[in-house]
Amino acid sequence: MVKQGLRRMAVAALLALSAFGAQQVYAQGSPAPDPFWNVPDIGSLPDDDHGRLVRRGRDLITATYAHIGPLVPDATKRYAGNNLACRNCHLDAGTKKFGNPLWGLLDQFPQYDSESGQPITIEQRLNACMTRSMNGKPLPIESQEMRAMVAYVGFLSLGVKPGEKLTGYGAGQMAELDRAADPVRGNGIFKQNCAICHGTDGAGLRRSLPTTDLGYMVPPLWGPDSFNNSAGMNRLVTLANFAHDNMPNGTSYVMPRLSVEDAWDVAAFVISQPRPIKADLDKDYPDLLQKPADTPYGPYADGFSLAQHVYGPFKPIRDEIARLKAAGAVPGKRAP
Ligand code: HEC
Ligand code: HEC
Repeated sequence: MVKQGLRRMAVAALLALSAFGAQQVYAQGSPAPDPFWNVPDIGSLPDDDHGRLVRRGRDLITATYAHIGPLVPDATKRYAGNNLACRNCHLDAGTKKFGNPLWGLLDQFPQYDSESGQPITIEQRLNACMTRSMNGKPLPIESQEMRAMVAYVGFLSLGVKPGEKLTGYGAGQMAELDRAADPVRGNGIFKQNCAICHGTDGAGLRRSLPTTDLGYMVPPLWGPDSFNNSAGMNRLVTLANFAHDNMPNGTSYVMPRLSVEDAWDVAAFVISQPRPIKADLDKDYPDLLQKPADTPYGPYADGFSLAQHVYGPFKPIRDEIARLKAAGAVPGKRAP
């Protein structure tokens, strides 16, 4: 108990320091957030129905576990299967460049989705994170929770012109290694750079409470309360870039703290760990030639091993997929 308390204090200090560090980076005039678009100030919304809906949407994103988590008192509201919050991956409530921002999105939907092989709406995209990242059930489209989160995403699109694409989407795109990423080397990097906060067992750190129902101070990276194996974060390219541009928490892409090579290897270690498994994944990607090279579950249209799809190198896989596409190959096409 005392040990947990001390670790919590140390982590709280680290989190405070790292937030200060990030501010310093901006203050010194490094590339700041885009001048042509600023995150709107949610506090300036009037206290009317729309203002309240947007605020509720933000609450759902910053404290998902408290509203639709597996431990909420109302059993009918237990849509999420873990105690994560959307903001754990959509940093700063979806407003951080290369921290998987949720800004300027509304006009980009409906969009083609290779995972389902169909055009999807913003509600369906959000539910993809509910069933994968949150390891839970889809929210009904008409539910107040869905409407609130979509209203918040709409709020983060205010002032963005139709067709205009902001920068900073996703988690970045650093250079890839020409070798497979190495989970064994990654284990050492994890111990040095991540374990203090996320725990040597990857289980994260609770707030100073005996349960997780008020969420985590630091979210788990693997184990039963983490994202499932089909989540975007369980793909090497996503996790490596996310860690490089954002971790240790408070890091900004303008001043990464991990080297590129260390980021690939530590990501390999994290995705090599056990986590919940989603059922029916063989139904994903009806056109296998659209399946991203680093999707960590088969089937695949190319002849590469599962291990190479998980750890890379990905260029030979992408080259082969491009060759199959150019040859108009049919193996990728499957009956829906
Ligand atoms: C474990 C990390 C994680 C959690 C938790 C998570 N997401 Fe995501 N989300 C991602 C990643 C990574 C992507 C980028 C797409 C990909 O690689 O699959 C994404 C993409 C999205 C997108 C599409 C963004 C775009 O650029 O098109 C939306 C909308 C979204 N998430 C909403 C949510 C909401 C709402 C929640 C909470 C209910 C949530 N996510 C929880 C990781 C997460
Ligand atoms: C100073 C403490 C700290 C350190 C050190 C740290 N993290 Fe994190 N990490 C966090 C916090 C806090 C969040 C959630 C951020 C939020 O909700 O705003 C997070 C979120 C994450 C997430 C997305 C959420 C999830 O549950 O998967 C990943 C992936 C991640 N960290 C990986 C790493 C890796 C890899 C390292 C080591 C290179 C690392 N972190 C080091 C505190 C830390």
